[in-house]
Amino acid sequence: MAFKHRDDIDLLPSYKQGKPAPKSDRHTYKISSNENPFEPLASVKEAIRDDALDFINRYPDMRGWGVVERLAQETGVKSENICLGCGSTEVITQLIQLVAGPDDEIVYPWRSFEAYPIIVATAGATSVQVPLTADGHHDIDAMIAAVSDKTRLVIVNNPNNPTSVPVSDTDARKLLDAVPSDVLVLFDEAYFQFNTDPNTAVAMELFHEYPNVVVAQTFSKAYGLAGLRIGYAVAPEDVVDGMRKVALPFGVSRVAQTAALASLDAYDELNDRVQVIISERQRVLTALREQGWTIPDAEANFFWIQFGEKTTEAEQYFIKAGLSTRVFADEGIRFTVGEAAANDLVIQTCSRLKTVGLLV
Ligand SMILES: Cc1ncc(COP(=O)(O)O)c(C=O)c1O
Repeated sequence: MAFKHRDDIDLLPSYKQGKPAPKSDRHTYKISSNENPFEPLASVKEAIRDDALDFINRYPDMRGWGVVERLAQETGVKSENICLGCGSTEVITQLIQLVAGPDDEIVYPWRSFEAYPIIVATAGATSVQVPLTADGHHDIDAMIAAVSDKTRLVIVNNPNNPTSVPVSDTDARKLLDAVPSDVLVLFDEAYFQFNTDPNTAVAMELFHEYPNVVVAQTFSKAYGLAGLRIGYAVAPEDVVDGMRKVALPFGVSRVAQTAALASLDAYDELNDRVQVIISERQRVLTALREQGWTIPDAEANFFWIQFGEKTTEAEQYFIKAGLSTRVFADEGIRFTVGEAAANDLVIQTCSRLKTVGLLV
């Protein structure tokens, strides 16, 4: 850029949005962004029409009290422990802005959610990326070893994006027992509702036991509101106060707040959809494993195949089949569990890949 600006921004990767469905005469599918494949609920659209559309000339309630109080009731914490953000991406951003600046370090697993390095660098802080184990787990001992006097935050991503592998309760407690109690530990649980692992860490339980736990969840995935941008954090009261200071003013629209409340009202219906996605995930994983693929256990609404150097070659077969996937060159491909027809195409294409020698 020709204009005066922060040099460190030049080094930042730009956040890459999942590619749209490939263009073709046939029906094609976008399984690149871990979105919910179901259409918005009629009751949510109605609530937006009845309670939000007529107010779009006004700023929304900046604190989002209606949603905050409802979440407080459901999670058994005080309203003062909850804050909203423009997606959980924004609450994670608020937290990092609050705790870290130049010379401070943030420890997190890698590969993980692509926004972490961008948010950390934007705060002027330093990322300490701890490689995942070969089977996609957080390397908890290495994460503990990476914590230093400079550490201001440790991030746990459960289940981890893109590997979909969960973090166990035992590992989470080991980490929390080792991290100084004045260093916050963020549990990013964007995919919490899809996680059926009986041994998983549950951040809301840990929140009640450890003083330094922050939980981030979102309405984007299980609730299907990705397009409206609303997520939340549960955190100690003084942390919430600090996060509010650095929050984007009026970042969460009334449309989003109304839709979140209507979605909480429709919990049973949405949960039925989550169960469909979980059973589709199981169907695909079973079929692929029967074909001979090595796939780590998946506990989110996506799964991961480590194609290594064959990644970009493999991607072309999925594009030809009408699927846009999330590709990490020379590492692997992340597949969102989508509509049944999209999942069938994944199974068929993997079978084809096997015949051309791309099985991993
Ligand atoms: C691990 C993880 N955390 C947080 C988010 C943020 O989602 P949102 O900002 O839509 O709430 C995502 C989105 O893909 C994610 O994968």
